[in-house]
Amino acid sequence: MSRADNLALVREYTHSDSLMKHMLAVEAAMRAYARKFGEDEEKWGTVGLLHDFDYERWPNPPDHPLQGSRILKERGYSEEIIYAIKSHASYLTDCPRVSRLDKALFACDELCGFITACALVRPNRLEELESKSVRKKMKQVTFAAAVKREDITSGAADLGVDLDEHIQFCIAALREAAAELGLLPATSPATVAHSTEVRQDATDSNSEGSR
Ligand SMILES: [Fe+2]
Repeated sequence: MSRADNLALVREYTHSDSLMKHMLAVEAAMRAYARKFGEDEEKWGTVGLLHDFDYERWPNPPDHPLQGSRILKERGYSEEIIYAIKSHASYLTDCPRVSRLDKALFACDELCGFITACALVRPNRLEELESKSVRKKMKQVTFAAAVKREDITSGAADLGVDLDEHIQFCIAALREAAAELGLLPATSPATVAHSTEVRQDATDSNSEGSR
């Protein structure tokens, strides 16, 4: 399956702009980690891009991600990809995170949601955003309250990466995809027209958290 096939599948089931961007953000982080670890970038990117594609239609556990898993199986995706996606749902106790792929998805998921929330309240978005500011925001319990801080810290530990380096690494990965994620600096001509939409996304991110 090509990236175009993956995107078509995501768009078939997802109409929320913020959820779409969340999956693109996790894809960007997963691709960056695949390159860092010398893993299969297309496979890792596919897992990131598809991990929440069923969430809008089936937001409740365990339908998410089990309904999605069923669809992925019907469409011929590999067991490895399907398992990694299932394993990001901690409530599926029969799917512990075993491989580095499973662990990377969990480590990137909540963190990408949180970094996005941090960027959306800054005029410069991802530019000059550093791990230090993200860590500071993590201590503010009312900020993006739905994002579980414990999942961010335990995800990094389970992947075996230093938390600050992990945050910095994911910021850099998201920066590469900033245009697609709607996270270019607010002063950029490309984003001025969409500023209202971006503010709405910030509200969505803060209220929904990640999945
Ligand atoms: Fe997610």
